[in-house]
Amino acid sequence: MPKKKVEEIFDKYAKGYSTGEFAPCLYEHVARTAMSFADDITWHYLQKYTPIDKNSYILDAGGGDGYWAQKFIELGYSEIVIADISQGMLDQARERLNKLSHKHNTQFIKADITDMREFRSNTFDYLFSQYDAVSLCMDPQKALLEFGRISKQGAYVVVSLDTKFRRVPEFIEAKQLEAVRRLLKTNVSVEFGFPQYNLRWEELSDYYEMAGLEVVETVGTPVFMHQVSESVMKELEQDPEVRKELLAIEMEYCTDKSLINNAGHLQMIGRKK
Ligand SMILES: C[S@@+](CC[C@H](N)C(=O)[O-])C[C@H]1O[C@@H](n2cnc3c(N)ncnc32)[C@H](O)[C@@H]1O
Repeated sequence: MPKKKVEEIFDKYAKGYSTGEFAPCLYEHVARTAMSFADDITWHYLQKYTPIDKNSYILDAGGGDGYWAQKFIELGYSEIVIADISQGMLDQARERLNKLSHKHNTQFIKADITDMREFRSNTFDYLFSQYDAVSLCMDPQKALLEFGRISKQGAYVVVSLDTKFRRVPEFIEAKQLEAVRRLLKTNVSVEFGFPQYNLRWEELSDYYEMAGLEVVETVGTPVFMHQVSESVMKELEQDPEVRKELLAIEMEYCTDKSLINNAGHLQMIGRKK
């Protein structure tokens, strides 16, 4: 029962999630993620499509411990719903957001993104699901159909999840050829004790279209930096000018479709027709 396992593991590790203390990875050498670049690019595109009206009704689907919700509250948005399958992650989100000085009416709802009967059709002005809930739910098409159903006409829907091919060299490095075969054949990988679905941008784009969402932008987060060894990246990032230049390179190339299927994450922006 993969969903129960996902819920259990996120519940168990919810407290350490924000500091990177997550469940042990089943394979060594897997995790060249360059997360600081992923975060910067992700936030750039999340902000780019944010509605102007600060009273917009926003859903953070698979919102975890509220990292992105906090950023929106700090921008002045107050009507946010965080939905997540893990009560532990929702509790962490509540704790995080309770500390903020900004006023907000955030709701915390335990829900599965593949079946969000808690929400009526055409409810949200903006909907996002960053970092993998759509991979972890194991049914990206169902999740996208739900996102299409509950967003209002004209609303932007931003999803980010794990790309398929970036993991191939990682698994080879970990000498896990069975994992490579499985991933290439089925799109499924297992790293933390539960399976997850990894997608090419073409597949995600099809799911957007099937859900009545017109794709407006496709992004790799990041497209280069996760391929650099962690120790070299750590050293380079210490110089703010070098960090700035590396981010500028990423920003220039992150929408180049020939690079995106090998990116760290795949982020897609669509608009409900
Ligand atoms: C990697 S975390 C990302 C959390 C947050 N979106 C962020 O970017 O910091 C993935 C989140 O997806 C949630 N999740 C996994 N499967 C889900 C499902 N089927 N429905 C709702 N949430 C789910 C997990 O509980 C976890 O909080």
